[in-house]
Amino acid sequence: MHSRVIMIVGDKMILNTFGERIKYLREKQNLPQAKLAQATGIVREQISRIENGQINPTLDTVFKLSEALNITMTELFDYDVIGKKQEISKIALKPFVKWAGGKTQIIQEILKLIPNSYSTYFEPFLGGGALLFQLKPIKAIVSDYNLELITAYRCFKDDKDYRLMIDEILYHQKNHNEEYYYQVREMDREPGFHDLPNYKRAARMIYLNKSCFNGLYRVNSKGYFNVPSGKYVSVNAYDESLYNNLSTYLSLETISILNADFEEAVSSATKGDFVYFDPPYDTFEDKNNFTTYTKNVFGKEEQRRLSSVFKDLDNRGVKVMLSNHNTDFIRELYSQFNIRVINARRSINSLSSGRGNVEEVIITNYSTDNNHVDNN
Ligand SMILES: C[S@@+](CC[C@H](N)C(=O)[O-])C[C@H]1O[C@@H](n2cnc3c(N)ncnc32)[C@H](O)[C@@H]1O
Repeated sequence: MHSRVIMIVGDKMILNTFGERIKYLREKQNLPQAKLAQATGIVREQISRIENGQINPTLDTVFKLSEALNITMTELFDYDVIGKKQEISKIALKPFVKWAGGKTQIIQEILKLIPNSYSTYFEPFLGGGALLFQLKPIKAIVSDYNLELITAYRCFKDDKDYRLMIDEILYHQKNHNEEYYYQVREMDREPGFHDLPNYKRAARMIYLNKSCFNGLYRVNSKGYFNVPSGKYVSVNAYDESLYNNLSTYLSLETISILNADFEEAVSSATKGDFVYFDPPYDTFEDKNNFTTYTKNVFGKEEQRRLSSVFKDLDNRGVKVMLSNHNTDFIRELYSQFNIRVINARRSINSLSSGRGNVEEVIITNYSTDNNHVDNN
């Protein structure tokens, strides 16, 4: 080593770790050593020796590796971040609520189109967070307009609220019956509801989601939750290992959870970041549609505003993906971008006639040829 890097990795033990990190980052991007060699111009054998901690890379080599692995030199030496990535990559995460428009059905299609690398992940229409929990990015800004939902996410992030929320969920679960469901449901009609502690609102929201009809979150024009009971004899609202994993992940300091409009939620995105937009769907003229997650309906004007935000992010060098229904209106709004049509099975709709196969589009402002999945 002939540079500053010597000072950082001069110790044999640290060097080993450096090699392990290169190997870890390479494998995470599904890059064989030969491909990394091709991308960096470093011979494959040398990469192998670096990964095994047998040789000291020069500053120039480290620079080439960081470029090819799409990570800054600072991050490459940030042992804390990489350690967290390794830890988080081992835990299983999935949505803790069932959510209309949830992406679990088409997640495999989406995963194929995720950019190979990116810096901060943004998800401004978070809902159940199906994609967030697949990708498990270490740096993320996630948001949703629905305050009840975001309050629950925030409780997973705060140790004390998390414990209180679990106790409260267990209390609801124990007392569950038809009458109890409606008592809990009506709480948001009471004057003091907005002054309740976060953990109580979060536990109510999770309990209602698990015990209501079809796991639907829907409010009326006054903003009151109005889904009927699912008529279950018993309810299982607490998955201990999943909830502990969610709490470990969401507690990372590098994950911010906002309750903002989508435009504000992505305002800090810069070149190299990745934004996934999963807005309420544009409506098919001939079908029943669900767009009432909050009391504000997401109509054509909102879809237009969203397309301007998409274009603005594109101009700022941010990688952007958006999913929506395959309607003429949406295809026209995004005609200058890459549009893929996929088939999705819809399981939540206010009327059963709206279920079945529907075409969706996935729109990206970046090429997805040669894509390999990298979870940040
Ligand atoms: C299709 S859902 C997202 C589903 C989510 N990807 C999932 O896997 O569950 C759309 C979400 O957008 C939120 N939303 C509606 N209008 C919004 C706005 N103006 N800004 C931010 N979020 C909004 C809704 O509360 C809802 O959770």
